[in-house]
Amino acid sequence: MIIKSNLNDYSVTIESSFEFVTELIGLENAYFVIDKNLYDLYEKRLFSNIAHEKLTIVEALEANKTIETVLQICEAMTIIPAKRNARLVSFGGGIIQDITGFAANILYRGIHWTYIPTTLLAACDSCIGGKTSLNYKHYKNLLGTFFPPEDIRICSDFFKSLTERDFQSGLGEVVKFNIMYGERGLSRIEHDLDLLLNRDENTLNTYLETSLAFKKPFIEEDEFDKNVRIHLNYAHTFGHAFETASNYAIPHGTAVAMGMIVANRVSLQRGILDEELVLRSEQALKRIIHVDFTGINLDIDTIIDAIRKDKKQTSSDLTAVLLYDDMKLGIFKDLKPKFGVKIFQY
Ligand SMILES: NC(=O)c1ccc[n+]([C@@H]2O[C@H](COP(=O)([O-])OP(=O)(O)OC[C@H]3O[C@@H](n4cnc5c(N)ncnc54)[C@H](O)[C@@H]3O)[C@@H](O)[C@H]2O)c1
Ligand SMILES: [Zn+2]
Repeated sequence: MIIKSNLNDYSVTIESSFEFVTELIGLENAYFVIDKNLYDLYEKRLFSNIAHEKLTIVEALEANKTIETVLQICEAMTIIPAKRNARLVSFGGGIIQDITGFAANILYRGIHWTYIPTTLLAACDSCIGGKTSLNYKHYKNLLGTFFPPEDIRICSDFFKSLTERDFQSGLGEVVKFNIMYGERGLSRIEHDLDLLLNRDENTLNTYLETSLAFKKPFIEEDEFDKNVRIHLNYAHTFGHAFETASNYAIPHGTAVAMGMIVANRVSLQRGILDEELVLRSEQALKRIIHVDFTGINLDIDTIIDAIRKDKKQTSSDLTAVLLYDDMKLGIFKDLKPKFGVKIFQY
């Protein structure tokens, strides 16, 4: 798949085995940044031939998604004599993507970047679109640029080692794209959810492709997020609020799954979405939301307060993307969400 970009068109390849990793390790002028958990799990099998001085291992913690980590990588990469022809090759989920995208963007005003998303969330969604974000002090994703990788390689073998928590978070985004497809997408998910939950490789590959194919026209038409791309923010207004209110105990894709339940209930309350579709979506979503809500404060005032602070809120009315009619997407104002944790649980 080729993604058109104002910066540089880029490619996404779905790999059927880990063979491509050997090819990447042999590349001239390459420097590697690898997620620590991933490195520990796959060191012997995949990474033992990477020269020590050409490797930085980063712990995937929000606390490490900072300009300091980016600067350390830039400094370490001065070992590569090629300068602007240097290539950063990074393996990991969204945290590693955000850090290495930023570094590849600013080092020598932009170097080559190959990215291997190793979480389902990064593979089915964030690896395309070109956003990079860093946290600063207590501000999540305050700093950012647009800089897509030029080469993305996805191998679903990596998802076998994800924890259930991280895997189901990725499924949140997969289910989101299908609910956004409309009734047909929802039926497909209802049919295939068991296979997805069992990490069936063929099913995962099919859904990876359809998820990326759904996102592609939005980011190609509006790469810099000024108009139609905003529709991809469906479920995220509430999702981001759940992430912050839980102090990131609820992972991104799970928070988005919860955000879909709330967004669709708001649509139902306004009489713009069919009740059957709302209930069927909820049935599917509840199967991928497994959160221990003890100690997490999701009361309505906390959530509304978190929504008001979201950087995408542009007016004092609460605004969000909602589904209407047969799952069309639109921007709606003056929301009055109602919920308690019970709506996310069986
Ligand atoms: N740039 C974007 O467009 C964009 C979009 C969405 C989210 N994000 C960011 O992405 C981050 C979340 O990303 P994420 O959900 O991919 O999680 P992550 O990068 O935090 O990784 C989750 C966990 O999975 C582990 N891991 C990674 N690959 C593994 C594998 N194959 N096997 C076992 N463990 C593995 C990591 O070590 C970590 O513990 C957030 O910081 C969010 O802000 C960015
Ligand atoms: Zn998301």
